[in-house]
Parts: sequence; C-alpha cells; structure tokens
Amino acid sequence: MALDLDPGLAAAGNPELVKTIIEEMDGGAISFERFMEIALYHPEHGYYRKPGRIGAGGDFLTSPVIHPMFGWAVGAWCEWVWETLGRPSPFTIVEAGAGDGKLATALLDWVEGREGNFAKALKYLAIEPNSHGVDPRITWLVDAPPPVETGVVLSNELFDALPVRLFDVEDRGPVEVFVRWDGQAFVEVRGSVATIDGSPSNGRFEVNGRAAATMTNMCALIERGAVLTFDYGFPKEELWADWRRQGTLLCFYRHTAHEDPYQHIGEQDLTAHVNLSELQLAMELAGLKTFEPVNQAAFLTTLGLGSLMESVRDNLPEFFARRRAFQQLTDTAGLGRIRVIAGTRKLEDVPPGFGVDT
Ligand SMILES: C[S@@+](CC[C@H](N)C(=O)[O-])C[C@H]1O[C@@H](n2cnc3c(N)ncnc32)[C@H](O)[C@@H]1O
Repeated sequence: MALDLDPGLAAAGNPELVKTIIEEMDGGAISFERFMEIALYHPEHGYYRKPGRIGAGGDFLTSPVIHPMFGWAVGAWCEWVWETLGRPSPFTIVEAGAGDGKLATALLDWVEGREGNFAKALKYLAIEPNSHGVDPRITWLVDAPPPVETGVVLSNELFDALPVRLFDVEDRGPVEVFVRWDGQAFVEVRGSVATIDGSPSNGRFEVNGRAAATMTNMCALIERGAVLTFDYGFPKEELWADWRRQGTLLCFYRHTAHEDPYQHIGEQDLTAHVNLSELQLAMELAGLKTFEPVNQAAFLTTLGLGSLMESVRDNLPEFFARRRAFQQLTDTAGLGRIRVIAGTRKLEDVPPGFGVDT
C-alpha cells in the first residue's frame, strides 16, 4: 500500500516558520527584505534564534571560530588604541552582533595573559539580540548601551547578516523583488520600478537599507577611540559592477553554499556582501577619521599573526593548529578576503594594519 509521503510545509524548511511567513503574506506578497528578516530573525523560529549555527556543527565558519588567534590579534589592536589614548580606565570594548562570544572570550583570555594594566581597565559589552554566549566576563546586552567615554566598537560579519532588498533590472529599470506563496512553494514576483543612484544596468543586485544606520549607531557609541569592522564587501563600483549579474546573496546550509533562499527556510544562513563605500561614508558623517580598507589577510599579516606560529615551534600539535588557522584566516579565496575598515575619533595616529589616510 502506498502511503502519502508529501512532507507538506517541511519541504520548504522549518514548518512553523514557513506557516508564519505564509500567514503574514495573507494571500499576497511581502518584500524579499521582509522575507529575509523573518527567516533569520523571527522572534521564535528565526535562524539566529537557535545556538550552534556557526562552527563545525553548524552551517558556516567565521574567523573567531577558526582559532583564538583571531581574537588575540584584535585584542592587540585594541591594546594599541588603549595605549595611544594614554591608558584610560575604564576602557570599554563594545562588540555588535557578538554571536556566542568566541571573539570576546579569546580577546579577554589574551588580555588577562598580558603584563600591564589593560586587563584592569577593560570592560567588555556584547550586543546580541539573538542567541548569545555565556562568558561571565562579558556584559550581554540586547540593545545598544549609552555611549562610552573611551574604547573600541567592534563587529565581525554583522553587516552581511542584515536583511537586504533585492532588485532585478528590467528594460524599464530596477524593480524590487517580492515573494509570495503559490500553494506549493515560495515564488518571486516583481514590484514597481525604483530609481536608485548608480545601480547596475542589468542583472540582480541588493540594497542593504540598514547598514548605514547601523554603522552610524556604532560610531555614536564612543566619544574617544575607534571602530573596527570585519565584513564581506566591496566598494560600491565593485559591488554594483555590471558584470556581476547575480548579485551577492548566498545561502549556507551545513557548510554548502548555494543560491536558493526558498529552501531550508529558518535552517540556513542568508547573507549578502556589504557596500563598503556606504559604511565608510557613514563613519565620516559620524565624525570619524577613516582609512583605506584592507583585506583581512593583509591586516592580520601586518599585525604579525605569523609570529604566533614561530613561538610554538617546539610544540608540534599547537604549531600545526596555528599554521592551519593562519592559512584559513588569511586565505584570500576565503576568510582572508573579508574587508577590514576602521575609523578613529580623537586619536591622531594611523592604527596598525592601515597604511593610507583617506
Ligand atoms: C553572521 S553572525 C556573526 C556572529 C559573530 N560576530 C561571529 O563572527 O561569529 C551575525 C550576528 O549578528 C547578529 N545581529 C543581527 N542583527 C543585529 C543587530 N541589529 N544588532 C546586533 N546584532 C545583530 C545576529 O544575531 C548574529 O549573531
């Protein structure tokens, strides 16, 4: 006897979440941006609500999960800011989108192992509205804190996780992509024509409507110090180059990248590259001095990440672990191509890893 094997809504992903999206559509369509927002951040069933999404047992890797070396390097950068500002106390690091806190934990371990008073001066605040970590040395926040007097504001892969608007260029111009349920699956429908300055003349592209405001808010968190951001992105001309026909939206499910946001809904990451020009401009408008962005490979190498291998030559397992991590963190086909941007406020010197004033 044949049975009814139809998986129903589970064919598209988490059935509870799929049902929620269909209900919100109410027979009509929602923007792709709203679809992405629900898929990633629905208060109950959104992808980032559950722990364990990042790492070997999850869907993708970020630099902090590769090895604590990444956090040590960022810690040394923050220590340089602290020293350059005359060793103020307290000195606060605010990390936006801190996830489970791996970067924070590695950084705090590194600071505790150092001579000097940096550890005594340091406070660490992590803003994470979704599933967060448990390190008791970190103050976990859901919303941004009031501005701090001196410190560093950090983020790693925050901007590329923000929901984006999608546009397809037709003869009449760029039209926004909306999503509806056809009874079997989510399908795309086109909206009306938009006017977007400098947008591509063909193909698909994304607009991240929240990135600039998020950066502005991050810059407002420090009165004196620096902002340091790591993210996948390009300057506007490269992000919106005419040859990039498919945009940059990508999905990650169990360490496999693909381009279909309408499967594994609530069980896969959705990400789009950021417009670095826009982030730089937001920093400048917020009154920060900015520097030519560099890629993570160059940044970490300039900071001296390679020396961390040499110092453990006598401990072969650790030497090989660090060498493998160094390769992954600086691989320009992978994490090494992440761009690093920095801005400083009331700090004259050019920060380590950045060469040229803009
Ligand atoms: C790709 S994950 C990166 C996590 C961590 N920084 C890492 O590198 O492993 C993006 C994180 O940003 C958080 N996030 C998204 N929107 C946010 C917002 N508006 N403010 C703060 N965090 C946010 C998500 O919950 C998620 O934990």
